[in-house]
Amino acid sequence: MSPPPPNEDDVINHHDSSSVDQKRPISTIVIIIAMQTEALPLVDSFQLTEDVNSLFPKGTPWVRYHGTYKGLNISIIWPGKDAVTGVDSVGTVSASLVTYAAIQALQPDLVINAGTAGGFKAKGACTGDVYIASEVAFHDRRIPIPVFDLYGVGLRRGCSTPNLLKELDLKVGKLSTGDSLDMIPHDEASILANDAVVKDMEGAAVGYVTDLLKVPAIFVKAVTDIVDGDKPTSEEFLNNLSAVTVALGKAVTQVVDYISGKSLAEL
Ligand code: ADE
Repeated sequence: MSPPPPNEDDVINHHDSSSVDQKRPISTIVIIIAMQTEALPLVDSFQLTEDVNSLFPKGTPWVRYHGTYKGLNISIIWPGKDAVTGVDSVGTVSASLVTYAAIQALQPDLVINAGTAGGFKAKGACTGDVYIASEVAFHDRRIPIPVFDLYGVGLRRGCSTPNLLKELDLKVGKLSTGDSLDMIPHDEASILANDAVVKDMEGAAVGYVTDLLKVPAIFVKAVTDIVDGDKPTSEEFLNNLSAVTVALGKAVTQVVDYISGKSLAEL
């Protein structure tokens, strides 16, 4: 006999950090960022330095920038350039690997996944908007078998931050993740089923690992392109990338400024 299907509460993550952890001031933050262009404004803002001796396995291109900022131990982890093609290692495979390796090595109190995303104008997104994702899920893992379908979607919640959201002028919405920049009709249907307003290539993969290792995660996504508009996505993405990474850098700096001196329970 097969086990009963899980209900939604079993599928979505619950961080079982103890109340002691919840009340202790946050001291170590890992920020996962897929592209160097997205990372550099923050490396600058937090005055971080690149590690000379890597924490990570020999031969991996993974880069850590680290330093202390407003009493916080901050590491930005960038998966680096792909050894074969020389471009940034974007997407879910690299994102999950570096998230796992960084948590193992640094034992952070909190992970922030920051990056760019496509936005749906039908749901109110505009280029330059910065979103905090309330939930993350996959849109390209279609497994039409009962319960495996839910596993494929891989829904996870971001860390609850009601006070931070009240204080900062950021939008809130659901994020859908897949390994393609473009959007085929099948993906669009799944993204709409996920009720997402923004679409990226890493968030749900980071969410899978942070949930697995019980580390709270905040997802900060800045909109470079409108996926239900009339401009070709890759063109709009490349045209807006550098301006939007400045907006992303400002928003992540505000989030980190807010976190400084606070516990998880105060966010
Ligand atoms: N990152 C920036 N724009 C994106 C899009 N349209 N899809 C996936 N990831 C993105």
